[in-house]
Amino acid sequence: MQITYYGQSCFKVNIGGFNILFDPFISGNDLASEIDINAIEADYILLSHAHQDHTLDVEQIAKNTGATIIGIWEIHAWYEKLGLKTHPMNIGGKWPFEFGTVIMTHAVHSSSFPDGSYGGQAAGFIIENDEHTFYYSGDTALFSDMKLIGEMHKPSFAFLPIGDNFTMGIKEAIMASRFVGVKKIIGMHFDTFPYIQIDHQEALVIASFNEAELIIPTIGETFSI
Ligand code: NI
Ligand code: MN
Repeated sequence: MQITYYGQSCFKVNIGGFNILFDPFISGNDLASEIDINAIEADYILLSHAHQDHTLDVEQIAKNTGATIIGIWEIHAWYEKLGLKTHPMNIGGKWPFEFGTVIMTHAVHSSSFPDGSYGGQAAGFIIENDEHTFYYSGDTALFSDMKLIGEMHKPSFAFLPIGDNFTMGIKEAIMASRFVGVKKIIGMHFDTFPYIQIDHQEALVIASFNEAELIIPTIGETFSI
């Protein structure tokens, strides 16, 4: 499976022959100025919550690509009104898409659109198909129900925030990885703003000391997992 990092919490994952894009925030990210959002391919756009640092480029990319937006009911309602293709979900539900099954999970965070409109609850996702199962937590605190994700879905790796202040930091992410039963953590939600700047070396040392395999992706990088 190929994964491309576009900064903040935005990843493109090629799975089952489809491109699924998570939480596009690119044009407002100074660290991602090399990325041309008009060149991004997407069949589906998964949105964990409505905050601008997860949704800024949704409209543009969905218009360019015709991608279907997957999100909680309130997010679906927002983008449907703009004439975009959507698939509504809510926490705890699952749906078999052509690339695999999506399960919408709980996340401990807030969610509002940039104008203050209610964005529903913040969420995370589990994606599973015959070959792969992974967890994308969205913005969240550590919470003990992550153990249920491990027990029920047995993911092989997880996208987890490591930037602290607004979400988990590295230490909580390591505990989260234990809760969901993965060794491999792909870090997200770091460095974009001063509040979430991290020391990469320190994070890597803490991870290896705790026998976690932390990947701190570079913007624009594509890697296989
Ligand atoms: Ni947020
Ligand atoms: Mn965020």
